[in-house]
Amino acid sequence: MKDRIPLALEPIAEAEAVAQYDKGARLYMLPEYKYFVWKILRRGIKSGRVLDIGTGSGRLSIELAKAKGSNFEITGLDISENMLKKAAENARQAGVEDKIKFVQANADALPFPDGSFDLVISYASLHHWFRPATVFKEAQRVAKKGGAVIIRDNRRVYGNPFWEVFIWILRRFMNRRHRENWPKAIMASYTIPEVKAILEEAGLTDYRVSTDFIKFDLCVEIKEQRH
Ligand SMILES: C[S@@+](CC[C@H](N)C(=O)[O-])C[C@H]1O[C@@H](n2cnc3c(N)ncnc32)[C@H](O)[C@@H]1O
Repeated sequence: MKDRIPLALEPIAEAEAVAQYDKGARLYMLPEYKYFVWKILRRGIKSGRVLDIGTGSGRLSIELAKAKGSNFEITGLDISENMLKKAAENARQAGVEDKIKFVQANADALPFPDGSFDLVISYASLHHWFRPATVFKEAQRVAKKGGAVIIRDNRRVYGNPFWEVFIWILRRFMNRRHRENWPKAIMASYTIPEVKAILEEAGLTDYRVSTDFIKFDLCVEIKEQRH
């Protein structure tokens, strides 16, 4: 695989960039959010307190709030104020504003007591974190004993000709901003051995890192909840 290229330090913050991001999230990422929600429900998780780390414009949280037969109380957390403004607007438009509250904070130091959540999730945010080991530890800390921590992201697949061609084809269907930014996100993402090394650095031992068939995703599950 090609070497990792971290993203610039600033999160997506400007209102215009946020609007563009959200447009892409709605156009291209909806199937991924639905897939993540399906995976959660398939495990029999249908209710409880949920934390979505790096919620961005809130579209994963919104899909979860809308899931049939579910009754979640969701907190969407992000470092970017403008992302959260957009998320609140999206939740209102989707009619689920009573099920989600949005909190601005750095995932390095989650502003919640130990064992606050039945489920901690995150999508496409891991590759942004400056201190991923700290965030993994924080995710574990705020999860209840018997709860679940499921963090999904891209895998860095550049260097593999199959995935390079696949991504090249998908990019033809994207708008200019996403066509330019997606490869940067993939280059900032981790490989499975790299994520395992970060989990070990965090002192976590009971975890699973997996990838789904015919996808270049990465799923981290931290199993050992303490509180
Ligand atoms: C690519 S976006 C993904 C947003 C959303 N999860 C989605 O799937 O559309 C990454 C998000 O992570 C947020 N983020 C990055 N680092 C963060 C941190 N340390 N604490 C909280 N949020 C963070 C960014 O502000 C951004 O909204």
